[in-house]
Amino acid sequence: MAKVAPSILSADFSVMGEAIKKIEQAGADLVHCDVMDGSFVKPITFGGQMVKNIRPLTRLPLDVHLMVEHPKTQIKFFADAGADIITVHYEACASISPTYLKETLSMIKSYGIKCGAVVNPDTDVEKIFDVFDICDFVMIMSVFPGYGGQKFIESTLDNVRKARQYADSIGRKDMEIEIDGGINTANAERVRNSGASVLVAGAAVFGAEDMRAAISAIRG
Ligand code: DX5
Ligand code: ZN
Repeated sequence: MAKVAPSILSADFSVMGEAIKKIEQAGADLVHCDVMDGSFVKPITFGGQMVKNIRPLTRLPLDVHLMVEHPKTQIKFFADAGADIITVHYEACASISPTYLKETLSMIKSYGIKCGAVVNPDTDVEKIFDVFDICDFVMIMSVFPGYGGQKFIESTLDNVRKARQYADSIGRKDMEIEIDGGINTANAERVRNSGASVLVAGAAVFGAEDMRAAISAIRG
């Protein structure tokens, strides 16, 4: 069964503790934490202190999505804060050096944390095939990162299918293929059928009248 990772980007930051408890009670599988640095993407959200403060409030795994330049410099902060999964963007790493992504993923693993590589909607997932062997997660962006509540980009399902097929072909049926951006109750089934196993949803969960019903519909 697919897993649902509500994105706290769509929560009210003034009552974040309540939001965490609410999504856990509504059946969330992971908590998706969107970290933005004002440079890799224009907005700034939060850093390790937020992750540290929500850590004791839930037993759910904390899935930290780093939308930052120079991600290597940030890993220790989020590892120490209690992240369970850290994902980093191919695009932020490729602009530094061809080996930076692999080095960052290895650094994450060295803290005993699950790691993942992320590609933007206009990046072919083939670009990260060479790191699939060390990834626990591969995340496909289905919107351009920076904002919640954007429209799902249909063509990104090609990346989902390619990622699933390639992972299976190298004997990595355990690989989680995560998808992030614009997921809702109307498109979730198509997304799951394309091979996604972890569905991030911000607006569709926090904007729902019945959060539990929304999460279970997205999970399928
Ligand atoms: C976008 C973030 C997403 C976003 C998802 O930059 O990485 O996690 O919050 O929110 P929705 O589901 O509203 O598109
Ligand atoms: Zn995200």
